[in-house]
Amino acid sequence: MEQVYSRYTPQDQKIWKILFDRQIKLLQHSAAREYLKALRTIGFSDTIPRYTELNQQLTQHTGWSIHVVPGLIEVDKFFKLLSQRKFSASTWLRGIDQLDYLQEPDMFHDIFGHVPLITNPFYADFMQAFGAMGVKYYQYPQAVKMLQNLYWYTIEFGLIKENGNTRIYGAGILSSPEETAYSLSDKPKHYPFDLATIFDTDFYIDRLQEHYFVIESLEQLFNSIEEMEKMMEERCKAMETRS
Ligand SMILES: [Fe+2]
Repeated sequence: MEQVYSRYTPQDQKIWKILFDRQIKLLQHSAAREYLKALRTIGFSDTIPRYTELNQQLTQHTGWSIHVVPGLIEVDKFFKLLSQRKFSASTWLRGIDQLDYLQEPDMFHDIFGHVPLITNPFYADFMQAFGAMGVKYYQYPQAVKMLQNLYWYTIEFGLIKENGNTRIYGAGILSSPEETAYSLSDKPKHYPFDLATIFDTDFYIDRLQEHYFVIESLEQLFNSIEEMEKMMEERCKAMETRS
């Protein structure tokens, strides 16, 4: 599958522009510095991006590329693609009546939310290592759940500390105006990043998060790979012994 750019209508372009302009404004003082830098690197504008151009940027910076999918895909395929430095993204865009809420991720979420930081080497290597763990332990349902929790509380809904301030790097927040403001408010709880806790913390997909985990830097994610591998191995061995 590939992006067929000529299929986007003037209405699609209008919707992208509304979403883009709104988020850019909101994110100036709430997104991670690394994300804003990556956004400039990738060169997004208020017109729908061309995946061929994004792929050139990704390949050049971290050797990643976008793999077009029709929508949500099976978790084993998702892990495998990540382990091959391929990010699965859809090409359809939400309608004008769905500007604020979507059940399935569209291209604004996938591309605007996820793709910029894939140009960051620490983030890109963490995603690949995460995918490789998924491929390795896919036969253990509990391991898959632990990895899904980790993805949720980092790549999708992660927060980061910067000069004493808390900022956003998770794509699920970056692409949602409501969660952008809410996540940094004093309503949800903020906890320090801790792999063991995250592995055991369930999430809900149908409401704003009650808690978020805050990393100290993107390098911290990269540095957690070794611990992630060790913990996955230990826990899967323990599961085997019990069964
Ligand atoms: Fe996502």
